[in-house]
Amino acid sequence: MTETMRAIEITEPGGPEVLKPTSRPMPQPAAGQVVLKVAYAGVNRPDALQRAGSYAPPPGASDLPGLEASGEVVALGAGVDSLSLGDKVCALLPGGGYAEYVATPAAHCLPVPKGMGMKEAACLPETFFTVWSNVFQRGGLQAGERFLVHGGSSGIGTTAIQLAHHFGARVFATAGSEAKCKACLDLGADRAINYRDEDFVSVMKEEGGANLILDMVGGDYLPRNVKSLAEDGRLVQIAFLQGPKVELNFALVMVRRLTITGSTLRPQSDLAKARIAESLREKVWPLLDAGKVAPVMDSEFPMDQAAEAHARMESSGHIGKIVLKVSG
Ligand SMILES: NC(=O)c1ccc[n+]([C@@H]2O[C@H](COP(=O)([O-])OP(=O)(O)OC[C@H]3O[C@@H](n4cnc5c(N)ncnc54)[C@H](OP(=O)(O)O)[C@@H]3O)[C@@H](O)[C@H]2O)c1
Repeated sequence: MTETMRAIEITEPGGPEVLKPTSRPMPQPAAGQVVLKVAYAGVNRPDALQRAGSYAPPPGASDLPGLEASGEVVALGAGVDSLSLGDKVCALLPGGGYAEYVATPAAHCLPVPKGMGMKEAACLPETFFTVWSNVFQRGGLQAGERFLVHGGSSGIGTTAIQLAHHFGARVFATAGSEAKCKACLDLGADRAINYRDEDFVSVMKEEGGANLILDMVGGDYLPRNVKSLAEDGRLVQIAFLQGPKVELNFALVMVRRLTITGSTLRPQSDLAKARIAESLREKVWPLLDAGKVAPVMDSEFPMDQAAEAHARMESSGHIGKIVLKVSG
């Protein structure tokens, strides 16, 4: 292996244009880690937040963007016996996916599902770890419950719709166009709500209220989500695209026995992420192997066009996942 590799770095906080090709030293695997030769890297909204300067990498993580990738194991750190050189995996990354090589804990790698290409596999970890841990583990979604996901056509939304539908929930999704609403229905949503034409609070109240809401919008959605919940309903917050500060009448939370919670994946400990990986391996990977659930692909860009990939994501014109081709 060479001593340097090609990567995309964030030259300064700013718009997509601050993403520039660069050369960096090859990553070395620490104990418990592997190094992957990256085939494809998934693009996620948190990458854009990091690029803009509002989502700093946790201590010790690479400053390069990229939270997920598919690739081949090319180096093993001390103590790694769960993977072998040459294994094809997809992995949750602490950062650094927009690069030819990346180091990550072996316990955060999962096999490329049967029959799935490296391109699609690169798009699994960030959204599947996030949706599984927030909707099913934290939110406790049960079969027969009414589940509302905002941003239904996003990478997160398309994953949440499919998994919630598969596990027997009645699924509601909001999205900002008719084409996006159709995509949500095609993925298994029982009802898609175009939020530009319809009020999701009225829709959910008519249905008896949501038992669980997964929200990334925040802002005025927070009080509206609270009004949309059924008694004993749960709201899981994973981002605040419209801002985190609002005025909220907590009397409703008390009277209707609501739970408001949330989480971010990236700052969690390696052990916490390994536990999510194990649960995914057991409960969700069989569905991917069987083709019952699959990532929704929007578009592919060469790694050197990461700026164009971010511009596409921030236009919100996309449906599903955007991916960078690195060496695949
Ligand atoms: N907490 C965590 O651990 C975690 C992990 C991963 C991602 N996230 C968050 O989850 C969200 C989705 O991530 P993703 O990668 O799936 O992103 P994405 O594909 O870019 O989806 C974001 C979607 O949100 C919708 N949206 C609604 N209001 C918006 C607004 N004010 N500004 C921009 N978009 C708005 C857009 O669809 P419409 O056109 O329908 O509005 C857009 O497609 C992001 O906010 C991300 O930061 C959180």
